[in-house]
Amino acid sequence: MRGKRLAVLGAVIALVSGGSTADAIVGGTPARVVDTPWVVAITTTDGQLICGGALVAANKVMTAAHCATLKGVLGKNQRPAEQLRVVAGRTDLRTKSDGVEAAVASVWRHPDYQEVTKGDDVAVLTLAQSLPYRTIALGEVGDDGVVLGWGRTAEGTPPAMTLRKVTVPILSDAECALKEPDYRPGAMLCAGRGGRDACTGDSGGPLVVKGRLAGVVSFGRGCARADEPGVYTRLAHYRSVMGF
Ligand code: ARG
Repeated sequence: MRGKRLAVLGAVIALVSGGSTADAIVGGTPARVVDTPWVVAITTTDGQLICGGALVAANKVMTAAHCATLKGVLGKNQRPAEQLRVVAGRTDLRTKSDGVEAAVASVWRHPDYQEVTKGDDVAVLTLAQSLPYRTIALGEVGDDGVVLGWGRTAEGTPPAMTLRKVTVPILSDAECALKEPDYRPGAMLCAGRGGRDACTGDSGGPLVVKGRLAGVVSFGRGCARADEPGVYTRLAHYRSVMGF
């Protein structure tokens, strides 16, 4: 009886871990926060993953507007700052020992944000404390970038809950506009191809180009589907309104 149960448990663990090492964020590899100390997770007060983000100042986190919105992508109302936590310095969100959990003092969402596909999907969280981690500066797009997050490794799996990363090619505005009817040239960017993409739970997380923060994960149709690149908020477009 006990032996049988253990065997079943073993098979389940083998299945789950086999699945998550075979694919990734989607198509990526494990990452460690010590290598990218500015990448943070945004969670509920009881530790459920909402989104990713990036530390752009000791007490400021860049993320997507829909991450700070009640009911997520379709909602209009801002999620109260008291309902958000920022977790820094923790590769595995299931271990509570590493890193720092910070409360959020205030939320700035882009004033024109309505829903993800309309764009302006950017927000800055001001933390209740400064964090002892390196920050990342904003930058421009290039030929490819690295996207990081704790989200799903495929459509329909639970979030990985451990940090992963993948290199994604950045497409031209013309290609993005062909593939995504709601694409806004200049204010969005699109990236990913051939099984490499962000997925649910990676929203708000960083797209890094040449060591600088070029975009935040905004939306996609499914994850890593052929001919469906992920769409990101292009941060260079928002620098003046955000004061960064
Ligand atoms: N909106 C999603 C989230 O809440 C992110 C989707 C990104 N999808 C993609 N295929 N790139 O996490």
